[in-house]
Amino acid sequence: MTAPALPPLAPAPGGAFGLYLHVPFCAARCGYCDFNTYTPGELAAAGGDTPAGNTPAGWLEALRRELELAAGRLDAAGGVPVLDTVFVGGGTPSLLGGAGLADVLAAVRTHFVLAGDAEVTTEANPESTSPAFFGALRAAGYTRVSLGMQSVAPHVLRLLDRVHSPGRAPAAALEARSAGFAHVNLDLIYGTPGETDDDLARSIDAVLAADVDHVSAYALVVEDGTALARRVRRGEMPAVDDDVVADRYELLDARLTAAGLDWYEVSNWSRPGGECRHNLGYWNGGQWWGAGPGAHSHVGALRWWNVKHPNGYAEALASGAAPVAGFEELGETDRHVEQVLLRIRLRDGLPVAVLHPAERRRADAAVAAGLLRLVEQRLALTDAGRLLADAVVRDLLD
Ligand SMILES: C[S@@+](CC[C@H](N)C(=O)[O-])C[C@H]1O[C@@H](n2cnc3c(N)ncnc32)[C@H](O)[C@@H]1O
Ligand code: SF4
Repeated sequence: MTAPALPPLAPAPGGAFGLYLHVPFCAARCGYCDFNTYTPGELAAAGGDTPAGNTPAGWLEALRRELELAAGRLDAAGGVPVLDTVFVGGGTPSLLGGAGLADVLAAVRTHFVLAGDAEVTTEANPESTSPAFFGALRAAGYTRVSLGMQSVAPHVLRLLDRVHSPGRAPAAALEARSAGFAHVNLDLIYGTPGETDDDLARSIDAVLAADVDHVSAYALVVEDGTALARRVRRGEMPAVDDDVVADRYELLDARLTAAGLDWYEVSNWSRPGGECRHNLGYWNGGQWWGAGPGAHSHVGALRWWNVKHPNGYAEALASGAAPVAGFEELGETDRHVEQVLLRIRLRDGLPVAVLHPAERRRADAAVAAGLLRLVEQRLALTDAGRLLADAVVRDLLD
C-alpha cells in the first residue's frame, strides 16, 4: 500500500490544540456499534505476522512511532503546540488497564508538553474498570473519564448486546469519583425498541445518583452493516420510532436540567465547568492530531485520516511511512458548511454574521417558525429546534 503524501502542515495560529488517541480493541462487539474496533477473534482471523498492530503492545509501539512523527511534523511547521486536551477513545481504552493507559500518557509526554490545566480524558467500558484502575489513572494524570452506560434496564442492555450488569456503570462512576475524578461522564442511549418511559426514567435516576458532572445521550442509530441493522431488516425488531425518540429527549432534558445539568450541545449536558473541552474543540472548528488506526486529524485547512486496520496502521509506521489513508484540503465552502453544521448544535449558537444573505433569510424563517432564536447577534436552537436540529441545519444550508 502506498500512503498518500501529506502536504506540509500550516497550523492556524492561536486557539486550543488537542490530541486524540484511538484504541481499536473491544472485548465483544455491541450489536449497534460500527466504530473502528476489533474483538480478539476478529484480530486473530486477520493474522498477526505483520508488525503486530493487532495486540495492545504492538499498537502502543506503533502509536509511539506516530507520536514521534506527529511532533516532528508539527515542529517543522512552526513548533510543537502545547496540548490543551488529550482524549483516549475507542474502542475500549480501559482494556489496556490502568498501567497500559499510564504508558499511553507517558508516550504522549515523551513528545508533547501538556498545558498545566490540560483536560486528559479516557473512555472506559464499566466492565473493565475497578477502584484500582481509576486510582492508577489519577496517579498517571488523567483528569476525566467517560463511561459507556447506555441504560439500567436489563432488557434494553440485552438488546444492545451490553455485557455489564445494570448497576455496573453507575457504580463505576462512583468509584471514579472516590478516586478523585471531578469530571465523569456517563453515555446513555435512548429510544431503543422496547425501552419504556419508565426504563429511561430509572436510567436517569441512576445517572443522577452517581453524581456525575456530564451526560452524553444519543438516540439509538441503526447503523448499516451492524448486527442490529440485520435484525431490524429481518423484522426481528421494530425500527426506532422518531416520535418516541423526541418524547424521550424531552424527558431527559427536563430531568437533567432540573438536576443542574444544562445542555451545551444538542446531545450533551454538564454542570457548569464540566463541559468536555476536547469535544468543544471539534465543534468549534479547533485543531487536533488524531493518532491510532482510523483516527482523523485537522490542522490548518488540512484534514486527513489514518489507515483503519491496526495491522496496516502498524505496518506503515514500521516501514517509516506516515499511516495516512487519505486527506483533503478544506475550501472556504467546506469550512462554512462545517461551521454551520457543528456550531448551530451548541447552546451558544452561531454568530449570525457567519451566514450568507440567502441563509440569513432562511434563518429568519426558522426564527418565525420557533426553531431558532436570535440573541445578541447569535442564532441558537430553541427547545423545539433541538428536536429537529438536523432538519434546521439542512434548511439553513439548503
Ligand atoms: C467508544 S463507546 C464508549 C466506551 C466503551 N467502548 C463503551 O461502549 O462502554 C462510545 C459511545 O458511543 C455510543 N454509540 C455507539 N454506537 C451508537 C449508536 N449506533 N447509536 C447511539 N449511540 C452509539 C455509545 O453510547 C457508546 O457509549
Ligand atoms: S459501544 Fe463501546 S464496547 Fe461496544 S463495540 Fe462500540 S466501542 Fe466497543
